Amino acid sequence: MQVRFLLRAHTSHGGHGVAVSTRVCGALSAGSIPVGHPHCKKPLIGAFCFLYYNYLPSNIKKNMAITFKEEHSVGVKEIDDQHKQFIAILNELADAIDNNKTKETLAHIFDELGSYAEFHFATEEKYFDMFSYDGAEEHKAKHQELKEKIADLKSKMADNQVSLSFELIDFMEDWLIDHLANMDQKYVQCFKEHGLS
Ligand SMILES: [Fe+2]
Ligand SMILES: [Fe+2]
Repeated sequence: MQVRFLLRAHTSHGGHGVAVSTRVCGALSAGSIPVGHPHCKKPLIGAFCFLYYNYLPSNIKKNMAITFKEEHSVGVKEIDDQHKQFIAILNELADAIDNNKTKETLAHIFDELGSYAEFHFATEEKYFDMFSYDGAEEHKAKHQELKEKIADLKSKMADNQVSLSFELIDFMEDWLIDHLANMDQKYVQCFKEHGLS
C-alpha cells in the first residue's frame, strides 16, 4: 500500500538565502523509508511529512502560505504590488487545491493566474524595451516558460488533486525562487538607473 502526502513548511532554499514557504510531497510505501519528491527530487523528512499532512490542524497550515518579503522588492512600487497580487493568487490556488474545491473554482483561479501573469510580464517587458535592458531576451524567454507552465497546470486539472498539488509546488518554487528572488532582481539596477521607483 502506498500513502501519498503533502507538506507545506517554511524553509530556506536553493542557496539564495531566501526564506520562502514551500511544500514538500512524496509517498510512503509500506515497508520502506520515504521518499523523494516525484518531480523535483528535493530531500524529504518523509515520516514527519505524513504526520504533518494528516494531523496538523488546517488553521496552522493556512498560516504557512507564501509571503512577499522585503528582499523580494525590486524597488518599484508598481511591480512590487503586482508581485504581491501574484502571490495572493498562488495562495488562493493552493488553498483551493488543499480544500478540494470544485473544478469550476480551480478553473476560475487558474484563469485569474494566467491573466495576471500576462499583465505582470507585459509590465516588466514594457520597461525592458523602454530602457533597452541587456537581459531582456533571456528574461522574456523565462516569462514565456512560466506562461506555458500555467497553461499546462490548467490542462492537468482533470487529474486528481494530489497530482495537481505536486505540479503547483514546482511552479511556485520556479516562480518564487528562480524568478522573483533571482531573475527579477537582475533588472533592479537598470530600472533604478532610469529613475523608476
Ligand atoms: Fe519577471
Ligand atoms: Fe516579476
